[in-house]
Amino acid sequence: MTEQIQQHAQKKSSTKQKPKGFTIWMTGLSGSGKSTLAGILRQRFETDYDRFVEILDGDEVRKGLSRDLGLSKEDREEHARRVSYLAKVLSRNGVISIVALISPYRTSRASAKEVIGTDRFAEVYIKASLATCEVRDPKGLYKKARSGEITNMTGIQDPYEEPLTPDIVINTEGGSQEKSASEIILGLEKMGFLKPLASD
Ligand SMILES: Nc1ncnc2c1ncn2[C@@H]1O[C@H](COP(=O)(O)OP(=O)(O)OP(=O)(O)O)[C@@H](O)[C@H]1O
Ligand SMILES: [Mg+2]
Repeated sequence: MTEQIQQHAQKKSSTKQKPKGFTIWMTGLSGSGKSTLAGILRQRFETDYDRFVEILDGDEVRKGLSRDLGLSKEDREEHARRVSYLAKVLSRNGVISIVALISPYRTSRASAKEVIGTDRFAEVYIKASLATCEVRDPKGLYKKARSGEITNMTGIQDPYEEPLTPDIVINTEGGSQEKSASEIILGLEKMGFLKPLASD
C-alpha cells in the first residue's frame, strides 16, 4: 500500500460514522397490524431519521427464501431462523431491519434474539384479540380456516405463544395506525436505539 492510499484509507475510516443498526422483531396474530406498521415505520425512519431500512415480511421472505417450507412447527421455526440470519447481517451493517412475522413460538423468538444480539434486538408484540383479527381478516385467511380450507391457521388450529417479556407492546385495538407507530418509536427511544428528534 502506498503512503497516499494509506492516508486515504485512514481518512475514510475516521470520517465514517455508521449509525448502529438494530432489528425490530414484530410478532403477533395474522391481522394484528405487523405489515401495516412496518410500512409506516419504514417511511418515518427514512424520512425523519435518514436511515436505511429493510422490511423482512413473512410472506415476502417465504416467496424468496423459504419456498420449500410449509406451516408445520418445524417449518415455521426454520423460516424464523432464516429471517433471523438476514436480520442479523443487515442490522450489523447499520440497517434498521423490521421483521413482520407471526413467529408464534417463544423458542424461535428467543433464538432470534440470540442470533441477532441482545444489544440490537427489540421484541415488539403487536397485540390484538383473535376476535378483532378475525373481523379484520385482511387476507381472508380466518374465513378459510373456519371453513376448513386452511388447517394450520395460527390462533385457530395452531398455537400462538404470547410474548412473556416483550420489549414493547402495542395494542392495535386502541387507536390509529399512526399512533401505534409513534408508540413503537417512543419505545425504541427509551431502549436507546433511536435518539429523540430535535423539536424546533
Ligand atoms: N393501530 C393499528 N395498527 C395497525 N393496523 C391497524 C390498526 N388499526 C387497524 N388496523 C388494521 O388492521 C389490519 C392489519 O393488517 P396487516 O396486514 O397489517 O396484519 P399482519 O399482522 O401483517 O397480518 P399477517 O400476519 O397476516 O401478515 C389492517 O387492515 C389495518 O388497517
Ligand atoms: Mg403481514
